[in-house]
Amino acid sequence: MDWTTHHGDFFKGAPCLVTGGAGFIGSHIVEALVQLGAEVTAIDDLSGGDWANLDGFGDGVEQVTDSILNTDALATATAGRRFVFHQAALGSVPRSVKEPVLYHRVNVMGTVNVLEAARAAGVERVVYAGSSSAYGDPPVDGPKVETMIARPLSPYAVTKLAGEYDMRAWSHCYGLDTAITRYFNIFGPRQNANSAYAAVIAAFAKAMMGGQAPLIFGDGEQSRDFTFVHNAVHANLLAARCREKLGGEVFNVACGDRVSVNTLFKSMAEQYGMGDVQPQYDPPRAGDVRHSLADISKCREILGYEPLVSFEQGLAQTVDWYKDNLVLD
Ligand SMILES: NC(=O)c1ccc[n+]([C@@H]2O[C@H](COP(=O)([O-])OP(=O)(O)OC[C@H]3O[C@@H](n4cnc5c(N)ncnc54)[C@H](O)[C@@H]3O)[C@@H](O)[C@H]2O)c1
Repeated sequence: MDWTTHHGDFFKGAPCLVTGGAGFIGSHIVEALVQLGAEVTAIDDLSGGDWANLDGFGDGVEQVTDSILNTDALATATAGRRFVFHQAALGSVPRSVKEPVLYHRVNVMGTVNVLEAARAAGVERVVYAGSSSAYGDPPVDGPKVETMIARPLSPYAVTKLAGEYDMRAWSHCYGLDTAITRYFNIFGPRQNANSAYAAVIAAFAKAMMGGQAPLIFGDGEQSRDFTFVHNAVHANLLAARCREKLGGEVFNVACGDRVSVNTLFKSMAEQYGMGDVQPQYDPPRAGDVRHSLADISKCREILGYEPLVSFEQGLAQTVDWYKDNLVLD
């Protein structure tokens, strides 16, 4: 992606901190910022990420291997930064059902620590990785709009929502400007396929490359607004650049299209040359929502966002990336 076409020289020389910078989405934000000439610091405790995700572009990046629960390390990493892109979190719904206390500690207290460090450092804006899981299962089916009441269904969703509310509170009480990019099923190169809690596209890629039938939880007719990672990066950069005060506003980040898990399976099976394989079906998992589709009007209108990469284009790039890079455990 040529990020200068979309973001010019706005970030040239701008000191930025990316929390969770060794992770999937964080590493793509780091990559874009490096290309745009920003001065980048990344902090990550490597519980889910790997500095190898920055190979090829991360040489000039200050890499801090520490936790956002360590307030001293965070204060040092945040000092002098203009923008903070807060991506660090524990990210799996089913794991959060097993370890709710750990999820609250890392995702909620970690976020409060990031806000406090940003406040002390006089940061211009914190952009926070929110999650569509905050919506849960609303009573009316259809696109999720930011004005809907949140009805989270899992500890993970609650922790991500608490982080959103903290963003809002810190803006209102302390004048630290914040914005929330509420992601809908982000996928792409470098998403971890080897974790026991891998997201669906990564898990399917791993199964298919190992010659196995992927596992689908439920009947497969549940749907998601699968969003290629460059679209999420674009939304983050737009949110950081916005001239208006954002005051903790939430922006859905997605493509605005619904794809069922069965359709995803068929498309990936064709691309991996496994068109004859049937998936295995298991019962639905606790905490999973049935349908997830975004209304992206607000992000369009206020941030000027448009998805840069379609689901089909992104899926083809992702399948190719796993073919070239995935080392099976
Ligand atoms: N991938 C998605 O579809 C999706 C959807 C909604 C929201 N999000 C949010 O986006 C963000 C990035 O997710 P991702 O998919 O890139 O996952 P990821 O696991 O690849 O990235 C998260 C990073 O945070 C790091 N981390 C975890 N705990 C930490 C701690 N205590 N201190 C420092 N670093 C820590 C991990 O090591 C990892 O590198 C998360 O906040 C996640 O909740 C992701």
